[in-house]
Amino acid sequence: MQNVTVVYEAMNAMVNFETMKSQQVIVTGGAGYIGSHTVVELVGAGFEPIIVDNFSNSHPRVLDGLERILNRKIQLFDVDCCDESALNGVFESCLKRGNITGVIHFAAFKAVGESTAEPLKYFSNNIGSTAALLATMHRHGVGSFVFSSSCTVYGQPEQIPVDETAPFLPAESPYGYTKQACERLISDAHSAHAELNVTLLRYFNPIGAHPSGDIGELPLGHPNNLIPFLTQATAGLRDPLTVFGNDYPTPDGTCVRDYIHVIDLARAHVAALNWLKDQNHACEALNLGTGNGSSVLQVIEAFESANGISVPHTIGPRRPGDVTAIFADAKKAKDLLGWECEHSLQEALKDSWNWQKKLEQTS
Ligand code: NAD
Ligand code: WQD
Repeated sequence: MQNVTVVYEAMNAMVNFETMKSQQVIVTGGAGYIGSHTVVELVGAGFEPIIVDNFSNSHPRVLDGLERILNRKIQLFDVDCCDESALNGVFESCLKRGNITGVIHFAAFKAVGESTAEPLKYFSNNIGSTAALLATMHRHGVGSFVFSSSCTVYGQPEQIPVDETAPFLPAESPYGYTKQACERLISDAHSAHAELNVTLLRYFNPIGAHPSGDIGELPLGHPNNLIPFLTQATAGLRDPLTVFGNDYPTPDGTCVRDYIHVIDLARAHVAALNWLKDQNHACEALNLGTGNGSSVLQVIEAFESANGISVPHTIGPRRPGDVTAIFADAKKAKDLLGWECEHSLQEALKDSWNWQKKLEQTS
């Protein structure tokens, strides 16, 4: 337990603490963008999330945002998930208080460009943390595992919408390779360990923020993803947005993606945990997307109409490595989990802008 620092103690008079103790869920990377929104949804569904995060790509003030939304504190272990002995301490501490219902593993590095410059950092963190976590779960007999995978495993699929039977194509980046490798590692562990039940959740493009503006995406430095760059450019904090290419074989020439509100994505994790509880040695890959493709120009238009503000932008050359078009066939998630997206693109873009404005007011 030496490396384990309990920063926040869970306490709340408004919830039945006895029930929640038996529904503890370990959320690695729970201080990050998708993890923090999932923590909110887990509490709403009666689970007791326990965050394990080393703040390598987040800031402890996320905990303040969570407290404002939830009106309670969340327990956090400031631990590196590659450190198996520290993870062991986390599990022992939780098990003293009750059951561990499952583990959601968000913790990873995710910057595609950086992964090309520093592949070893990505291999060791993303694959190392997954191996350490699986070993710790096995040691303590914890069986339910929800993994953050990505549509990047498909590359440019031959058919869109893409379903889960599409083959993996050679990864475009070391980051993409770590997601493919982790899926392989997890399915091998599943074959070897009878207690393991797994969902491999392949996210499409998460955007948006909690409507309160208390939590959202906090990209450190120059944002690589479309929406953080777009909101910062619109706020005047960056040069105009460059649309990366308008000569693709798509209706308006710009790339097409499946943008999913982060709250819908977070709710899918709750649905996955509930589903896993009833399984007996399952391992399923599931696409999490809206099923709709939007081009870069359509996103700009939707942002402008949702927020009544124009987005400064220019057309530039293609970005190397971009796939032309990809969006999800999310039928399997609907059939298995009873989950589907409820938020529109415009709602997500409204929440993204609200988050950006609040960030400026508070920083
Ligand atoms: P994020 O960087 O906001 O959150 C990741 C969190 O994990 C951060 O708080 C970071 O501090 C923490 N972390 C990283 N390595 C750690 C380690 N070794 N030990 C403890 N904590 C560690 O990223 P996000 O956007 O919330 O992504 C979450 C997951 O979803 C990642 O696995 C990512 O690859 C995957 N994913 C993200 C997207 C996306 O576009 N955001 C798309 C597909 C998949
Ligand atoms: C979206 C679209 C760009 C920025 C990445 C990862 C993928 C997954 C999701 C984790 C593209 C265009 C962008 C800009 C632009 N992450 N764009 N100008 O590339 O679909 O996927 O995030 O698993 O692995 O690769 O997302 O947000 O970078 O780009 O025109 O300044 O916006 O060309 O068409 P992408 P993105």
